[in-house]
Amino acid sequence: MVKVVEVGLRDGLQNEKSVLSTHQKLTLIHKLIAAGIKEIEVTSFVHPTWVPQLADADQLASQLPKNRDVNYRALVPNQRGLERALQTSIHEYAVFMSASESHNQKNINKSIAETFPVLQEVIEKAQMHGKKVRGYVSTVFGCPYEGEVSIKQVITICERLIEMGVYEISLGDTIGVATPNQVKQVLKECLRALPSDQLAVHFHDTRGTGLVNAYVALECGITTVDSSFGGLGGCPYAPGASGNLATEDLVYMLHGMGIDTGVDLEALCQTSRWLEEQLGKKLPSKVLQSYSK
Ligand code: HMG
Ligand code: MG
Repeated sequence: MVKVVEVGLRDGLQNEKSVLSTHQKLTLIHKLIAAGIKEIEVTSFVHPTWVPQLADADQLASQLPKNRDVNYRALVPNQRGLERALQTSIHEYAVFMSASESHNQKNINKSIAETFPVLQEVIEKAQMHGKKVRGYVSTVFGCPYEGEVSIKQVITICERLIEMGVYEISLGDTIGVATPNQVKQVLKECLRALPSDQLAVHFHDTRGTGLVNAYVALECGITTVDSSFGGLGGCPYAPGASGNLATEDLVYMLHGMGIDTGVDLEALCQTSRWLEEQLGKKLPSKVLQSYSK
């Protein structure tokens, strides 16, 4: 079994110019649940002027369909975000930072050193309220401002976040530059420091390597993969970042490998078709493009 973490509502939409209404987002969530998706990152409690698409986070999070089988997640960058998240029933939070100084600064307006105490406080208080906390490390495979990123730096940050209490680190290829041998190398080194069940992967598909990178990660023993319906996505503070690895493409590959995901691929394609109509544009997933109904 591979855990597919659907990040389309957050990572997918955060870069979209046309803002969906809260009602449209809720419809999307209902459709995803009907398609068997169980892990859904629904929004971010970030500053609304930084990510206008997610300005309705509080409203959306207070109207989520009640379903015991579904784990709702949200990004929480700081204390203010935590206060907002705690007003909702979302059970799992994700803190995030980058392995490269310039992306961290552009993305969350702090140096790496300044970020740790902020995240430490969020993690501690979230745990006091019984919440699970995931950690994202961005720019693991390359930075839009600095280029190559040191694996040593990635590992130091991952270890520190784990010590601070996150249960898992999602390694982000924020701008979709990773290639399979690099993924193998980075994971080999990360797996020397952390067990496979504390690592997840988060590939953007900017250069068409998302799926093959996910395949390599699975071969390295990773069993949690982030993806986005239709391949929607990007990071507003990483120029050139495009969509995440598409959930349809990932699920198609996993089912072909005999790996269960619990996802109904046809229902998922219908969901992304519906979203294409709402956004008035085609989404990049290959499997979706080949879906003819
Ligand atoms: P800041 O301006 O440095 O915050 O933003 P501040 O602490 O200096 O506060 C300034 C004002 O903002 C204050 O209001 C705060 O209350 C308010 P004032 O007193 O002036 O009226 N404020 C907030 N309001 C609402 N919610 C909040 C919040 N925090 C402060 N949470 C901040 C710092 C982190 C908030 C900002 O930089 C931000 O929102 N950044 C988010 C950027 C973002 O969302 N990026 C995309 C997500 S990460 C990603 O996509 C990568 C990932 O997918 C993995 C990968 O692909 O690699 C995860
Ligand atoms: Mg991302």
